[in-house]
Amino acid sequence: MRGKRRVIRQSAAARFLHWTHTISCLLLFYTGLALYLPRLNGLAAVFGGLDGSRFAHRVCGVFFIGIPILMIIFNWRGFVNFLKDIFTWEENDTTWLLRFPIYLFRAKTKMPPQGRLKSGQKFADWFIIGSSILLILTGIAMAFPANFPKGLVQWCFPLHELGMIILGVFLLGHIYLGLGIFQPYRGAWRYMFGDGTVSEEEAKYHWTRWYEEVKGKEST
Ligand code: HEM
Repeated sequence: MRGKRRVIRQSAAARFLHWTHTISCLLLFYTGLALYLPRLNGLAAVFGGLDGSRFAHRVCGVFFIGIPILMIIFNWRGFVNFLKDIFTWEENDTTWLLRFPIYLFRAKTKMPPQGRLKSGQKFADWFIIGSSILLILTGIAMAFPANFPKGLVQWCFPLHELGMIILGVFLLGHIYLGLGIFQPYRGAWRYMFGDGTVSEEEAKYHWTRWYEEVKGKEST
């Protein structure tokens, strides 16, 4: 689905954040699983053993927390617009979400026209962002236990695991679509990992309402 005329979909700042967040997130999963599951302790060898894996987990955590915070400070308006996007929910979104399981097996299913963010992406973002916040807060308490009540720190261990499971499940779906394994999403990885543009055909197909808004702005 790569046509000649291209529309800007993701800014350089959004792509930088997504790149660094993806790398730190995947490394956090790797080092975290190496520490958490005895059967996977062997994975820690890459970082020189369990202590090395724990250290790498903390360093990646600093990037996972720090880069979004810096980006939010430098692009407050973009962040507020992103929050508005993900928390705007109309009847159209519910219809899209209910039809999505059918669409996954029958790509010809007629889906309601979408704005800048697809309903499924908004829904996944609630869980991705929510579980990331849970992981960050519980992670900080576990890394500096002396600064928090003992009972609270004990609760942080199962809550950190819960956050990891929720994030893992939603990321599997996100990565499945993002990598373009499902035919209508072929080449989607380029929106975030490439030059951030989409062809007009892709824009029209995936985000009809957003595409019309962009075209409307161009013609005024
Ligand atoms: C191999 C891994 C990944 C792939 C292939 C991937 C793919 C993508 C793609 C193609 C988009 C653009 C969607 C669009 O333009 O509508 C996107 C957006 C997004 N991704 Fe990922 N992603 C990956 C990992 C992650 C991780 C680890 C996180 C968070 C922890 C994440 C969070 C997000 C969020 C919040 C957005 C929405 C941004 C926006 O549209 O403004 N992604 N991803």
